[in-house]
Amino acid sequence: MVQAGGSVAVLFGILRPVPNSCRKLGYSPWRCSTAIRRLMTDLFDFKNRRLRFAVVGHPVMHSKSPQIHEAFARQCNVSLSYEAIALDPIAFEQGVRNLQAGGMAGLNVTLPFKEAAFGLCDEVSERARIANAVNTLTFLGGDQLAGDNTDGIGLVRDLQQNLKISCADARVLVVGAGGAARGIVQPLLQTGPARLVITNRTASRARELAGSMGSPDRVYSCALDEVSDSFDLVINATAASLSSEVPALPESVFHSQSHAYDLAYADQPTAFMRWALALGVAQAVDGLGMLVEQAAEAFWIWHRQRPQTAPVISALRSGAR
Ligand code: ATR
Repeated sequence: MVQAGGSVAVLFGILRPVPNSCRKLGYSPWRCSTAIRRLMTDLFDFKNRRLRFAVVGHPVMHSKSPQIHEAFARQCNVSLSYEAIALDPIAFEQGVRNLQAGGMAGLNVTLPFKEAAFGLCDEVSERARIANAVNTLTFLGGDQLAGDNTDGIGLVRDLQQNLKISCADARVLVVGAGGAARGIVQPLLQTGPARLVITNRTASRARELAGSMGSPDRVYSCALDEVSDSFDLVINATAASLSSEVPALPESVFHSQSHAYDLAYADQPTAFMRWALALGVAQAVDGLGMLVEQAAEAFWIWHRQRPQTAPVISALRSGAR
């Protein structure tokens, strides 16, 4: 029996006793009671056989992933539920294991857990291995976990299919060398740019990332203030937009036909987009299209169906206005 304030471990052998603080469940303390209610519902609701998915992050409540996956599911007649769950950064693995034990079919992973998610996987795709980061987890039998990274393909599809921006023979600048940059560099390289430069506030990280691509003839690195050329496409993969900052790049990074792309998205143009537009670029876009495209690839992994992304992108854009 479950005793009030006692232990669910007694029943299922999968959880340690629930302490006053819910940290060992992996949920943020403020979500404690919701987390326990959800777990118990999962275990006893035998009629509810919908596949369950979630995006996990910290913070995550702002995420549009539930809307996107629910829209895809309607299009493709898939029965699923998809929620946003904040996990505690100090108990990420326990949080994932609890969701797995609770019957989830898969998770999308967002900041700051993509690298930690990679570390939990029993098998990973080639693109996840190169990125050293996972944004899509699939729960296999037992406690096995498969990981993939759909960020890079999401960016490339948004650039090529939605925005009609070709990287072939282009000069491309990636700003940032963290997890987000790591996820996009290899897929970008496969689109055939003439030159791909990685620049970062901490130059050594840019050097390391560029070196790991194994294409010294096409991939270069430098510090932010060493960027000397102008570029056809400048991709902001830093976390600067989250604090409304702009990376300290020289203004000469753009020419009048440049495209500026911010991996971040918001209801209003990001600081990077505003800066680029003020400098006269041809186009400045945010990462909403990439978000939808990476979700579509995750949907394919889980359901083997390819939803249409354009209507979902426009619905999100009109909802944002
Ligand atoms: P993510 O997974 O979002 O990439 P991360 O791995 O912490 O997160 O990396 C954040 C990236 O944004 C890094 O490239 C970071 O630069 P440093 O390596 O020098 O830390 C970059 N970044 C964060 N804030 C920035 C700012 N205000 N200006 C420029 N770069 C910034």
